[in-house]
Amino acid sequence: MRSLIGTAIIAGLVLCPAAVGAAETVIRFSHVVSEETPKGQAALRFKQLVEQRLAGKVAVEVFPNGKLMDDEHVVRGLLDGTVQIAAPSLSLLEPYTKAYQVFDLPFLLGSTEAVERFEKSAAGEQLLSAMHGQGIEGLCFLHGGMKQLSADTPLRLPQDAKGKTFRIQPSSVLVAQFEALSAVPVKAPFTKVLHMLQSKGVNGQENTWSNIYSQEFYQAQPFITETNHGSLEYAFIVARDFWNAFPEDVRAGLTSAASEACAYGNSIAADLNAGDRRKIIQSGYTQVIELTPQQRAAWVAVMKPVWSQFEGDIGKDIMEAALAAAGAS
Ligand code: SIN
Repeated sequence: MRSLIGTAIIAGLVLCPAAVGAAETVIRFSHVVSEETPKGQAALRFKQLVEQRLAGKVAVEVFPNGKLMDDEHVVRGLLDGTVQIAAPSLSLLEPYTKAYQVFDLPFLLGSTEAVERFEKSAAGEQLLSAMHGQGIEGLCFLHGGMKQLSADTPLRLPQDAKGKTFRIQPSSVLVAQFEALSAVPVKAPFTKVLHMLQSKGVNGQENTWSNIYSQEFYQAQPFITETNHGSLEYAFIVARDFWNAFPEDVRAGLTSAASEACAYGNSIAADLNAGDRRKIIQSGYTQVIELTPQQRAAWVAVMKPVWSQFEGDIGKDIMEAALAAAGAS
């Protein structure tokens, strides 16, 4: 273990035996959402599994709600050792790989089941190593849930969004998606969204029921349109050098804990989102607008042409696997 500790110190790893149950190594897990979300719960499950199975060897400190850093900086944080594991939204990873843009294409992977089929396809599984060249490894994919559109006025048809400002994650696909609506996308970190909505810095945003509820976005947005227009997906990611410095048995324990934690998060994502949708409706703050089939078709007609701008960068194999998983080919 001496060599691991040496490597760990070089990587900026936190060694803090007294603080975290006398473990030889403490790894930090940073994320930006609430502990009550699929990702928050998956991170806690990872901690629990690691500390059961690798007691005395590895402990995990989880930092939710962006307490350690914004996810915009988390890849750099992994590489410089400020943090050792993270689960950012795949939309943020565009600077490292264009392949993940497939997850943002509107109305492509139209349900969590379709996302799951895609991630389990051969092309989907390969995507976990899409950032290998940058020194980052993906351990498992995790579902946040389907995204909805919230706003300060009712959005029933695409033209209702015209001229409105929407906070987005920094993703070219999401820029194109809102520009297709003749709306104005505004890139900003997740931790700033509530303030932007409360101060009327933007008119709306897109997110999962779970994030809209747990971050209290619904209290600042009188309308949510149930568009299910895209999925919010994450991956547990680590720096390759850091991960490979563990002895094989410890690494195997960590890797299986990550897979099980993601599987757990995936198993509760649909129920958590449905429950948070109910709580939002019951709160009385927000009217949830369900689209008629005709209204939904109008959103699809305006947003779907965005695909053609990105298919080349994403690659034919990945697009075909996504279309097959979506049941569209
Ligand atoms: C997240 O769920 O991790 C953040 C999503 C967002 O930035 O909207």
